[in-house]
Amino acid sequence: MQLQDILYSQGFGTRRICAGLIQQGLVLVDGQPVLDAAANFDTAALRFAVQGVDWVFHEKAYLMLHKPAGTECSQKPSTYPSIYTLLPSPLRLRPSKGAVQGVQAIGRLDQDTTGLLLLTDDGQFIHRMASPKHHVPKVYEVTTKHEVDDSQIARLLAGVVLDDDPKPVRAAACERSGANSLRLTLTEGKYHQVKRMLAAVGNRVEALHRSEIGQVVLPSDLSPGQWCWLSATQVEGLRSKQPRSAEEAA
Ligand code: URA
Repeated sequence: MQLQDILYSQGFGTRRICAGLIQQGLVLVDGQPVLDAAANFDTAALRFAVQGVDWVFHEKAYLMLHKPAGTECSQKPSTYPSIYTLLPSPLRLRPSKGAVQGVQAIGRLDQDTTGLLLLTDDGQFIHRMASPKHHVPKVYEVTTKHEVDDSQIARLLAGVVLDDDPKPVRAAACERSGANSLRLTLTEGKYHQVKRMLAAVGNRVEALHRSEIGQVVLPSDLSPGQWCWLSATQVEGLRSKQPRSAEEAA
């Protein structure tokens, strides 16, 4: 692929801007400036630098972000800064079918919720992950206002009715992790689901952190506000059909 097309596909600007960056010597491949915008490169695992920013070619972008508290998952936030401001501009400007599309969050977390958020520019992947038939387990670490007791855990596992839906929602797994904390696994994602489930059993969420989605675990060395690429294995794991638990199938 021509270098100017490579840069364009990765979100570094229009083809004209990309050609200009190359001609000004601002694009390095293997540490050397390449001045010919039409020079061809094999894109597989291609590494390059644009104006000092190191980049690895990704045909589609799949990444995780450690969402900090006090950020909104919306592109047009109402009160708090958008999570998209935490991403480098190429990820926000990646083109799709000739228009700027950028990566989008797969699902949302509340402004006060922290932890694992996945983003991609692969529309089919977002669609698949959002499908109610695709049961990807999500693990939440919940800090509660009141002590967690056995009956609350039993009710979360048996299923609680939320106001807008007569069908009970239940935790796929739930275990106490401290007097005022629990680890809750859900395979669906209704609006404010954890907070509403805890309220339904007479408790209250004080802090909420998502630590896992399928086999993807938020790395301990990824600080709040930082992002990293997902590996091909992680993407394939998320894409593969998740088995439904016997309870959910019932
Ligand atoms: N459930 C909630 O209540 N809030 C979140 O942010 C995620 C799950």
